[in-house]
Amino acid sequence: MKNITRYREKNLNEILDLFIEVFEKEPWNDNWPSKEKAKNYLLDIINTPGFKGYLKFRENELIGVLFGNIVQWWQGDEFFIKEFFIKKSVQGKGIGSEMLNFLEDSLAQNNVETIILLTENNAPAVKFYEHKEFKMSSHTIFLYKNI
Ligand SMILES: CC(C)(COP(=O)(O)OP(=O)(O)OC[C@H]1O[C@@H](n2cnc3c(N)ncnc32)[C@H](O)[C@@H]1OP(=O)(O)O)[C@@H](O)C(=O)NCCC(=O)NCCS
Repeated sequence: MKNITRYREKNLNEILDLFIEVFEKEPWNDNWPSKEKAKNYLLDIINTPGFKGYLKFRENELIGVLFGNIVQWWQGDEFFIKEFFIKKSVQGKGIGSEMLNFLEDSLAQNNVETIILLTENNAPAVKFYEHKEFKMSSHTIFLYKNI
């Protein structure tokens, strides 16, 4: 796999800019109150035990990010994808597939057999994951309460 590297702190600001750029668009319309808040959100992911991060570059430009962490579990360890985003102008060109394949190869070497993630059920990404043989869990629901 060409130009995929592990997360490096020196790229944090580029990652932050790409994260805001991708998710402020439809259908997410994220609206972070400040760059600092978004940076702290990413730092929380990076500082999670078991964190693994992958960056994809084209020439010297960052065009893809995949962040998550290994979760210890009684049925075997799992990898929880927390954030996965490709620069808008190069989405749909196989880069997400390339990064996911890279992740799967790397996880297989660490005896991780399952990848899990949460996403909005009407997001275009669902089609991507189904294409990649992810299945929707029929026995899990996501609950929330505004307080
Ligand atoms: C979702 C995402 C990571 C996929 O990466 P990508 O580089 O765009 O996807 P690929 O080009 O590798 O597509 C792989 C396959 O999924 C399909 N696919 C990708 N996006 C799709 C979409 N929006 N609708 C339908 N199919 C889609 C492609 O047709 C392709 O099929 P093929 O292998 O038969 O050609 C990327 O589009 C993205 O960053 N989207 C915005 C952020 C996002 O939704 N992140 C995930 C949140 S959890």
